This record gives sequence, C-alpha cells and structure tokens, in this order.
Amino acid sequence: MAEKFSQQRDLFESERSFRLLVEGVADYALYMLDPNGIITSWNIGGERIKGYSPEEILGQHFSRFYTETDRANGKPARALAIAREKGRYEEEGWRVRKDGTFFWASVVIDPIYEDGRLIGFAKITRDITERRNAQLKLEAMQKQLAESQKFDALGQLTGGVAHDFNNLLMIISGSLHILKKGAADDPKLERAISAIETATKRGAALTNQLLTFARRQSVNPQAIDFTERVADIREVLDAGVGSSVRLAFDIPSDTWPIKADVSELETALLNLVINARDAMPDGGTVTIGARNLVLNEAPLVGDFVAIDVRDTGLGIPSDVLDKIFEPFFTTKPIGKGTGLGLSQVHGFAHQAGGTVKVASELGKGTTFTIVLPRGTDMPSRETPGVAFRGSGTVLLVEDNPDVALVSIGLLEQLGYQVRRVADAEAALREIESDGVDFVFSDIVMPGKMDGLSLAHRLRQIRPGLPILLATGYSEVAAGVRGDFPILRKPYEIHELSEAIAKLPR
Ligand SMILES: Nc1ncnc2c1ncn2[C@@H]1O[C@H](COP(=O)(O)OP(=O)(O)OP(=O)(O)O)[C@@H](O)[C@H]1O
Ligand SMILES: [Mg+2]
Repeated sequence: MAEKFSQQRDLFESERSFRLLVEGVADYALYMLDPNGIITSWNIGGERIKGYSPEEILGQHFSRFYTETDRANGKPARALAIAREKGRYEEEGWRVRKDGTFFWASVVIDPIYEDGRLIGFAKITRDITERRNAQLKLEAMQKQLAESQKFDALGQLTGGVAHDFNNLLMIISGSLHILKKGAADDPKLERAISAIETATKRGAALTNQLLTFARRQSVNPQAIDFTERVADIREVLDAGVGSSVRLAFDIPSDTWPIKADVSELETALLNLVINARDAMPDGGTVTIGARNLVLNEAPLVGDFVAIDVRDTGLGIPSDVLDKIFEPFFTTKPIGKGTGLGLSQVHGFAHQAGGTVKVASELGKGTTFTIVLPRGTDMPSRETPGVAFRGSGTVLLVEDNPDVALVSIGLLEQLGYQVRRVADAEAALREIESDGVDFVFSDIVMPGKMDGLSLAHRLRQIRPGLPILLATGYSEVAAGVRGDFPILRKPYEIHELSEAIAKLPR
C-alpha cells in the first residue's frame, strides 16, 4: 500500500516537473490543440513570441496565428490534415503576432494519439526572424562577393590583353604618320592608309572599352558640369540615337558638379544611348536625367549625382540581366554588337568611385543609373587644342624599342630634338648632362624604378623640369592624379602636341 502511494507521488512529481518545464520554456511556443485546432494549453514561450496571455488565447482557434492570405487559402486546416496523414507537419513561414506584426516562424505540428484515437496536436513554434535575416544578408553578401570576384578575374584577363594590344596599336598608328608623308601623291596608297587608320581607330576604341572595364584606364577625374557636358556632346548623342528615336533631357539646374573623367563619361553616355536606341526598333524616347543623391550605404557614403538613361524599349529578360555587364556579352547579331558597351560603363562608374544600376521591365523599358561622386572643385572647361610647334630637347624614357621609334618620329615631327633612354636609371644619368628641356616618360617600365618614381625623383633634383608621363594603362596612374600630366596610349600627334603645350614651364 505504501509502495503504491509512493509510485503515485513519483508520477505526480514527474508530471509536475514536466509541466513546469514546458510552461517555462521561453524560446519555443509549446502548446496543445484539440483535434479541431482549438488551443488547449499555452506556455511562456507562446506568450513571449506571439504576445497573447493564456487567458486571451486558451479556447481560441490556432488559425489566428496565420496571415490573412494563408487563412483565406485554408492553410491552417491543411497543416492539421498533413500532420494527421503523415505523422508530422513541418514548415517555415510568416506568422502574425497579437500586435499584427509578422515574424518568420519555424513550425512543427505532431498529432497526439491515446489508445489509437486522435486527441489533439502538439505544436512547436520558434521565432527565427533574426536567423532568417542574417541568412538572407549572408546570401546577398556572398552573391555580391562572387560577382565582384568574377569581375576582378575578367578584369585581369581583359586588362592584360588590352595592354599588349595598346602597344601594338601605338606602333601602327604612329608609323602611319610616317607612311602618310611618303604617300602624298599615290591615291591607291592613300586609300589603303586611310583604311588602316580607320581600323586602328576602331581598335583603339575597343581596347579603351576593355581597359575601362578592367579599371586600368588612366583617368583624369575632374569636376564636370553635367548640363554643359551634355550640351557639348548633344550632336554626337543625336547622331547616336538616330532619327526614329527622340532624345529628352531632365537635368535640374541645381544638379551638383560630377567628379569623373570627361572622355570616359562621354563614352559611357554614348554607349547607353546607343543601347537604348537598339532596344527601340519601332522608335521611342531616351531620357537623360540627373538627380542629386546623399548616400549612406557603404561603400557609397556622401554626396553623389545619379545619371539616369531611360528608354521606352523592349526591356531586358531576367535571365539576361545578370550578364549584361560582362565583356563580350551581347544579344545582338554578329557584327552589330561586341558586348563591350556596358562593360565600359561598369568599369568607368566603379573607377570613378561610384556604381551603375539597372532596372528593367519587359515591354516597358529600361533605366540605367550611373552613380558618380559629387565634384568639389569648380568645373573647368577644357582648354581648346592649339596648333603647336615646339623646339628644344626632350628626354624620352621608353623601354619598348618599337614604341620608342614611333614616339621619336612624332616628337621630331613636332619639332623637338630627342634623346632616348630605355630606363629610369639611364634617364637620371642623362639628366646630369645639361640641355634637356623636358622629360617624356612611360610609366610602366622594367627595372627598379618606374616612370612615376622617376618623375618624383626628378622633381626633387630638378624642380623646374617639366615632366609628361605616358601609359597604356596603370593602376599606378590612379595615384598620379594631379601630380603629373598623363598622356594615354595610343595617342595621336595632336594629342601629344597638346599635352606638351599644357606642360607648366
Ligand atoms: N537599354 C537596353 N534595353 C534592352 N537591352 C539592353 C539595353 N542595354 C543593353 N542591353 C542588353 O545588354 C547587352 C549588352 O550590352 P552592351 O552595350 O554591353 O553590348 P552591345 O550593345 O551588345 O554591344 P556594343 O555596345 O559593344 O556594341 C545587349 O546586347 C542587350 O542585350
Ligand atoms: Mg552597347
């Protein structure tokens, strides 16, 4: 008798501690439903997560935790049916708290049987909103990282190829000048030369797009008045859109100046406008707009100007959208597109310290938005090129003998005497002997000292000596900004002459 009593007491004790446990668990809503879904028990976790006290919720139907749409679709009843049929129901989804706010829930429903008869359901709900948010954030970051790694790898590749190409083009275009002089009275030769010239220019333009994509273009960022810039290239843009497409502008007069490389900006605009035209085979409108933006999302923090190029064209299918900025991705027929336009836009925007975004709706149109940092200095107009004939002696520092030959040819045509050395060390020796009026040096060179270090060294030992740098591409060039003028390869004779004319003396 005494034993039976003690057994009963043990049972009572263990049930009590179990009830205390369930009631006390704060991280899980643990409760029972009757076979119809009416709530018959409640714990502190339920109160904490969903906001109801036991008095409020006991006797209510559990469907009130579901969203209105889920209720309308009969989801609560379906959950119980599945639990009964399969022995378990599991789901992650939105649920509603007492105050109407949503949380992302992990839900388990188990049917409870006694003597083979269903007496109700055990329900466990966890609030995993934070975990889900963290997960989503992580996924977004991983996607972004993968994206930027892909672009970096592509950039390495295209940048390398483009750099080599640039040196070749430099040689071709430079030698053409010499050929041209000799072909003055042979029309056949002249035609051939002009064909080579056109092809070289096209090659140089493509190489430039590639270099920009790889963010290895040497750039000269400066403050730009966007309205003025657009007005200046209005004719080119008009020609770009063609006759069936209307060009509209939406640039408020209080738009801040932009800080970017002028010619890259112009190329980017033209690339976007031509794309817009191609997306509107039956005509339409391209609108170029600008907005001031204050951003606070790392890495873009501060004042920016957003430039929108909006079309009313075909739109971009979602499976294409992911690839459009990749070099050589094109949906246009062979000969129509090289797939480099948007690559240039992408590289330009990022190198300028901004970004590019796209929003598109099939059948409605596409908007590309280039976000660029606000320019702080006063926008300056470019000084027009002057016809210039020089005199004096230039020290040319160039490691590639073929490029050197061409540069010497161009410099001599401009009227200079040229002394050439192949590296920075030799240049420093050469400068010892007098008679050099300015130095023209490549930036990327083999040896201990590159063109930039040479320039800095020269500035120390010969402060008054003008220095002009040249480069096909260079990450270094980004750091040179403002310190020394840089000429982009391949350059033409008038560009060389203008750059020399602008040297401070
Ligand atoms: N405004 C637009 N509307 C619809 N699709 C576009 C638009 N802009 C770009 N695209 C799509 O993105 C692709 C890539 O564009 P991108 O400018 O890089 O190359 P492309 O225009 O094909 O060739 P390229 O500009 O080198 O001549 C296009 O082929 C097209 O499918
Ligand atoms: Mg294009």
